[in-house]
Amino acid sequence: MTDVLLKLDDVGVRFGGLKAVDGVPLAVKRGERRAIIGPNGAGKTTLFNAITGVVKPTSGRITFDGRDVTNLPPHRRAALGISRTFQITNLFPSLTVRQNMEIAIRGLASRKFSFFGSGAFTSEEQNRAERALGLSRIVGRADVLVRELSYGEQRQLEMAMTLATNPRLLLLDEPAAGLSPSERVIVADVIRSLPSDITIVLIEHDMDLVLSLVDWVTCLNNGRFLAEGAPADIRTNTDIQDVYLGRARHHA
Ligand SMILES: Nc1ncnc2c1ncn2[C@@H]1O[C@H](COP(=O)(O)OP(=O)(O)O)[C@@H](O)[C@H]1O
Ligand SMILES: [Mg+2]
Repeated sequence: MTDVLLKLDDVGVRFGGLKAVDGVPLAVKRGERRAIIGPNGAGKTTLFNAITGVVKPTSGRITFDGRDVTNLPPHRRAALGISRTFQITNLFPSLTVRQNMEIAIRGLASRKFSFFGSGAFTSEEQNRAERALGLSRIVGRADVLVRELSYGEQRQLEMAMTLATNPRLLLLDEPAAGLSPSERVIVADVIRSLPSDITIVLIEHDMDLVLSLVDWVTCLNNGRFLAEGAPADIRTNTDIQDVYLGRARHHA
């Protein structure tokens, strides 16, 4: 068994004439915390979409846990443990947190066992929901309507709904975007204390946050792999400063 969980060999995604992702290599080890950084339009979200199967790579190969998943549909990859956060737009605002958790868990169960809406949680499902809410630090909010949650709590619920599906690879696309400084601290703590057997790939613009969370950083630019390194080396990498940190400073 290789220690690499996710491997991309020269993955490309083309939209018409645009190479949104252009021959990107990536190897993420089991249990690793990896950041993908790069300016807007660098291809980060498209890379995630290629990994989850939402878009089909136009070239290259994606291997998960030693298995070629390049041509698998999204639900098959999800069943293997490739998971991205639910989006707030997928939450049900007039249902409670617990009911939303039920939908997340039963959604998976219905794929696995072909029964749906069969009543109360089993004790295993109940434990899974509580564990996921605990990891996401909204355990006391289970009976609150989603529309009464703060924005930050809704992001925490997204995380809980994803964790309840037992992910092996968790893809987080800008989990702290739009959050207040105090909400960012909570999200960072949640990510930092996730079980070490969950492999995490994180897209995030907040450099301080990123560098405090991950083991290794990959930087994309214009769809291409630009550089990678340990967090301590990223700030001083002149290629990255030129395309990313430099640009971010000008915008600040
Ligand atoms: N579905 C799509 N159709 C056409 N172009 C797209 C699509 N999705 C993304 N793009 C383009 O691909 C490039 C990369 O986008 P994206 O992956 O969202 O970048 P990032 O997440 O790094 O900001 C951008 O130029 C974007 O406009
Ligand atoms: Mg994006």
